[in-house]
Amino acid sequence: MKSEPGIHGNTLHIGHLIGGEELFEGPVFKDWNPSEQRDLVGSVPTGDAGVLRRAAKVAHQAFVAWSATPAPVRGQVLVNFASVLRREKETLAQLMAREVGKTLKEARGDVQEAIDTAIFFASEGRRLYGQTVPSEMPNKALFTFRRPLGVVGMITAGNFPIAVPSWKLIPAVLTGNSVVWKPSDDSPILSFMLVRLFEEAGLPHGVINVVFGGGKGSTGEALVKLMDEGLLNKFAFTGSTKVGRWIGEVAGRNLLKATLELGGKNPLVVMRDADLDNAVMGAYFSAFATGGQRCTSAGNLILDAPIYEEFKQRFLEKVGETPIGNPLEHEAVMYGPFFNQRLFKRWLEHYEQGERQGARLLYGKKRITSSNPYPHFFGDPDQGLFGWPTVWEARPDMTQVREEIFGPTINLVRVDGFDEAVQVANDHPYGLSSAIYTQDRLWAHRFQNEIKAGMVNINNTTNGAEAHMPFGGVRASGNGARESGIWVIEEYTTWQSVNDEYSGKLQLAQMDTMVVEEQERVDWRELLGTAAG
Ligand code: UN1
Repeated sequence: MKSEPGIHGNTLHIGHLIGGEELFEGPVFKDWNPSEQRDLVGSVPTGDAGVLRRAAKVAHQAFVAWSATPAPVRGQVLVNFASVLRREKETLAQLMAREVGKTLKEARGDVQEAIDTAIFFASEGRRLYGQTVPSEMPNKALFTFRRPLGVVGMITAGNFPIAVPSWKLIPAVLTGNSVVWKPSDDSPILSFMLVRLFEEAGLPHGVINVVFGGGKGSTGEALVKLMDEGLLNKFAFTGSTKVGRWIGEVAGRNLLKATLELGGKNPLVVMRDADLDNAVMGAYFSAFATGGQRCTSAGNLILDAPIYEEFKQRFLEKVGETPIGNPLEHEAVMYGPFFNQRLFKRWLEHYEQGERQGARLLYGKKRITSSNPYPHFFGDPDQGLFGWPTVWEARPDMTQVREEIFGPTINLVRVDGFDEAVQVANDHPYGLSSAIYTQDRLWAHRFQNEIKAGMVNINNTTNGAEAHMPFGGVRASGNGARESGIWVIEEYTTWQSVNDEYSGKLQLAQMDTMVVEEQERVDWRELLGTAAG
């Protein structure tokens, strides 16, 4: 790693990290600050199948000693990791604001989520419980043990560059696995730093290996294909539904478990009895936090007819005051730039699509530039891809109501009553997060039962899940895997049943088992005189 002065800080030239050694191999790509196109954050090599194979082999070697290390000792690494993350929280947050354009407040939250996860799993090293199970035979004992899977292939997105990798890396290593990780090409420097901090915390070299590069047609695709070569024992992915489906297919034919956290089109329902001040604030944060670039961002606001007009007016007032800009120079902005060109392009397309399909644009004028100025912009808009906060009035059958967009845009959809609200809330392929604002307990409980979503919020935003709750979706949002909290342990371990026969003889289950016979039957109907005539 070399560093030289850049505009907002130094430029780092980094290599892949394999077995603790930096490897500068493959065509170099540039990692720019998305708020300031003159600021080069890093230069990073692109790994090919050869580099990935090397990383997987190193991970297999490291697995031998690491999986044999007692789990409470593995947990000590996480105790240290939580403390080094805490120490570097501000450095990571500043780097995150620079590398992916998150606001400092949200960047600090992102790092905090990793700290919370490390603290949660540090003590799990002292539990990782199995069961003692009674045997049907005398003098025989039954136990269950969790065993690690081996080498995990991981691909993560750049919108939560510390938190989401930590949901995968922390439980994977705590349970004794080793890893080959291909982080997003939006956040290589943060990813490099994260692995270095793991090693500083005492994680042996080679337990986590990181290989940089792109996704489709590049490093990510090559990593998935290592499953076909028998070099991986599990795969974990956060990203689009399309890519997730393909990874699931490759994992399936190799009989490997995949953790797939995919897209969402998260509904937020506001009923006629809702506390409107709270609902407007909740809807606003759900739609525009992180510039709508969270998988938990609200996609549709489903509004009950009697409050529709008032909600719309209050919501638009709030949206029209949104401070936007370069988050490094202006700490109070609500959101910064698009993380990358691909997301910006998709968002820009939805303007054409919306107009074509007859959606009504209530607020928003595409990209913010000096010639298309936005009234509450801070910094130089031409230095990045910044989007106007965008609000539509749309109908449930429109593409923008059914497909994920991942940008600062939200649809208002009018419904009449609870039944229609739930029906519209479910009328899309996804099922990640959801929310309802109501004071009515029956509606709140019916919503929990009837909404098709892995996560439900009552009078709460669609985003901002806590680090110790199961995170994941149903339908096109995933394959049922859960991350975060204790549930994720299932993803990185397999159950082993142990039969310890200490009677010293052959006892056959089901065949030599003692049998309790039913005893002589009393005819109660006759005794009580109730026998049918
Ligand atoms: C993501 O966008 O992939 O619940 C994760 C939330 C955050 C995590 C989002 N804690 O919004």
